[in-house]
Amino acid sequence: MKITIFGSGYVGLVTGTCLADAGNDVLCVDVDQAKVDRLNRGEVPIHEPGLDDLIARNREAGRLRFTTDVSQAVAHGLMQFIAVGTPPDEDGSADLQYVLAVARSIGQHIDDYRVVVNKSTVPVGTADRVREALESTMAERGVSLPYSVVSNPEFLKEGAAIADFMKPDRIVVGSDDDKATRLMRELYRPFSRSHEKLIVMDVRSAELTKYAANAMLATKISFMNELSGLAERLGADIEAVRNGIGSDPRIGYHFIYPGCGYGGSCFPKDVKALARTARGVDYEPLVLDAVEAVNARQKGVLFQRISDHFHGDLSGRVIALWGLAFKPNTDDMREAPSRALMEALWEAGARVQAHDPESMDETRRIYGERDDLRLCETPYDTLTGADVLAICTEWQVFRSPDFGRLRKDLKSPVIFDGRNLYDPRTLVDHGFTYYAMGRGD
Ligand code: UGA
Repeated sequence: MKITIFGSGYVGLVTGTCLADAGNDVLCVDVDQAKVDRLNRGEVPIHEPGLDDLIARNREAGRLRFTTDVSQAVAHGLMQFIAVGTPPDEDGSADLQYVLAVARSIGQHIDDYRVVVNKSTVPVGTADRVREALESTMAERGVSLPYSVVSNPEFLKEGAAIADFMKPDRIVVGSDDDKATRLMRELYRPFSRSHEKLIVMDVRSAELTKYAANAMLATKISFMNELSGLAERLGADIEAVRNGIGSDPRIGYHFIYPGCGYGGSCFPKDVKALARTARGVDYEPLVLDAVEAVNARQKGVLFQRISDHFHGDLSGRVIALWGLAFKPNTDDMREAPSRALMEALWEAGARVQAHDPESMDETRRIYGERDDLRLCETPYDTLTGADVLAICTEWQVFRSPDFGRLRKDLKSPVIFDGRNLYDPRTLVDHGFTYYAMGRGD
């Protein structure tokens, strides 16, 4: 099938590449000329395991191309995917200007039947606005061509996006017409092999499903983070509690890990946007507000703990920090708990010596050169001259460090672990003071 993907960001690139790999003829279009040039040279602008090879393979086969030419893009695909960003507005609602700009571009150049597929995370009712944009631009041209608008939210996890696309749990398709549904079924058949994964529903329900999934996952995390604070105060161990409740299949082990808060480009944005949507229809989002408030509080816990340890005086202190990315296997720093921690430490007059396996360039891009931030080549380099160690991301390489070396290199053997990587007993045996999340005293 001929497919056009608007937006060569994370979602667009993964979707386009995986669809090309199934044999489709994919043209990706982006407004950023520099990005398109890089992609056409075979350079991949994001870090995602397996993506580089997959892009190379499909470019070589001639099934995956990149352009800035919108008219060529609209002429190319029977399926026109919208995978552009929906950044939060100041009030937390999703900013639809890029989505609607694509819809207008399609309206300007459409010359035959097209299925417009919305992959971007968009508020309920956006498909109607896409339709309006298409109608009004076609009306300006004095034409009226057939089209369908479909909602097809993505459920890709950064770091596992290729596997999530190739072997999805489910493929949600919101469609109000049979022709578009048939085409979507055909397009996704290669990814639905073991059993039927496609769940067809009305457009509004599909739009809401995306928010419901992320909000439910964020709720699980905030719930566990709240309980972890409670466990600390009650002298209980949240890790024991986690095992105790996760074994109930109705609860499950996934997404009940307490930590220093959820981050990334999705949960924080989507929880806020859904709360905003609820307010827009005069419905108070009690749970969503609480999920957000708990996360904001949780992102401050590590700092508070470090500050308390030094009796509120952090000036001149040096904090070693392991992990900057919002989670392992990505270089993404959006809404990362490490940022809240570093910014609070700097504000209090401390310096940070940090290491992350993937996101040091990104950290440099965000914060630039500054005296109170040193980015170190290895985890152990962060320890030289540091008072204590804090951990924000559970990268695999941090899980079994040389504790002898840690104890020798740190000025005082104290670890503030935001991800519960270690067994508290082992750390005490090694002579550490170990602050974990929700693990009693
Ligand atoms: C999330 C969803 O998991 C995807 O299904 C969805 O498609 C995606 O958002 C999206 O909307 O595009 P992602 O943001 O890549 O994916 O990251 P997650 O793996 O969900 O992690 C989010 C945050 O929650 C991380 O900061 C992670 O450290 C934190 N987390 C996760 C916890 O604190 N505890 C847990 O038990 C699980």
